[in-house]
Amino acid sequence: MAKRIDVSGLTAYYGTHKAIEDISMTVEPRSVTAFIGPSGCGKSTFLRTLNRMHEVTPGGRVEGKVMLDDENLYGAGVDPVSVRRTVGMVFQRPNPFPTMSIFENVAAGLKLNGSYKKSELEGIVEKSLKGANLWNEVKDRLNKPGAGLSGGQQQRLCIARAIAVEPDVLLMDEPCSALDPISTLAIEDLIGELKERFTIVIVTHNMQQAARVSDRTAFFNLAGVGQPGKLIEIDETERIFSNPSVQATEDYISGRFG
Ligand SMILES: Nc1ncnc2c1ncn2[C@@H]1O[C@H](COP(=O)(O)OP(=O)(O)OP(=O)(O)O)[C@@H](O)[C@H]1O
Ligand SMILES: [Mg+2]
Repeated sequence: MAKRIDVSGLTAYYGTHKAIEDISMTVEPRSVTAFIGPSGCGKSTFLRTLNRMHEVTPGGRVEGKVMLDDENLYGAGVDPVSVRRTVGMVFQRPNPFPTMSIFENVAAGLKLNGSYKKSELEGIVEKSLKGANLWNEVKDRLNKPGAGLSGGQQQRLCIARAIAVEPDVLLMDEPCSALDPISTLAIEDLIGELKERFTIVIVTHNMQQAARVSDRTAFFNLAGVGQPGKLIEIDETERIFSNPSVQATEDYISGRFG
C-alpha cells in the first residue's frame, strides 16, 4: 500500500563531510516526486536516506527523521532490512543478478522473505513482470539469464524485482540514464501506471522527464564546492517549470547553470 513520507530536519554525512543539510519535505502517497539539481547536490544521498541505504556506506550517518505514515524509519529498534523491503529501490544502471534466470531475478527478494509454494512464486513473478510491462517479452524464456536482456528490458526486470515484494515506496535513481529513448518512454509510461499503487520518488537530470512523469518536483542545490546540498524548493511540477518561487530554480531549469 502506498504510504506518505514525511521528512524533517534530515542531515547526512560521509564521515566528517556533510553532504546534505536540514532537509524537510512530505511526499504524498500514489504520487510521483522528481528530484532535480546539479551534480553533487546530494539527490542520490537524500534518496538513500529514505530507505536506510545511506548508512551502508562506511562513515554514512544520518540525523533527523523520516516518517513513513506513522513509523519513524530511524526509530529505535527499527530493522533496516525490513525498511529496505518496504521502501524499494531501482538504480541508475540495471543490475540484474548475472547468474540468475529472469524468473529467479524477480523472485530473488521473495525468497529472502520466507517460503513460498512453487505456484505462489510463479503467480507473483508473473504479476510483477506484467506490472513492469515486461511479461510479453519474456514469458517464453523465464529460465534464460536476466543478463541476456536488452538494457531497457533489464531495467524493467529490476523494476519487476523491486515491486515483487510489494513495497510501499519505490525510489528510482536516474533509472533511464543508461537507456535509449524508446526504453525511456516505456519506463516513463510504467511510472505513470505504478503510481496508482506506489509512492514514487525519482531522481532525474532530464528536465523534460521530470515535467512528464512527476506531480511534484524538488529542486536541490549547493552553495559551492564542499558545501552541503540543500532543498531549495518543492512544489507542483507545473509550477516549478512555469513559475518557481526561487530565482536559482528558474536559472537551473532554464539551463543557466548546472
Ligand atoms: N560514498 C561516498 N563517500 C563520500 N562522499 C560521497 C559518497 N557518495 C557521495 N558523496 C559526496 O556527497 C555529495 C553528494 O553526492 P550525491 O551522489 O548524493 O550527489 P547527486 O546529486 O546524486 O549527484 P549526481 O547528479 O552527480 O548523481 C558529493 O559531494 C559527493 O562527493
Ligand atoms: Mg546521483
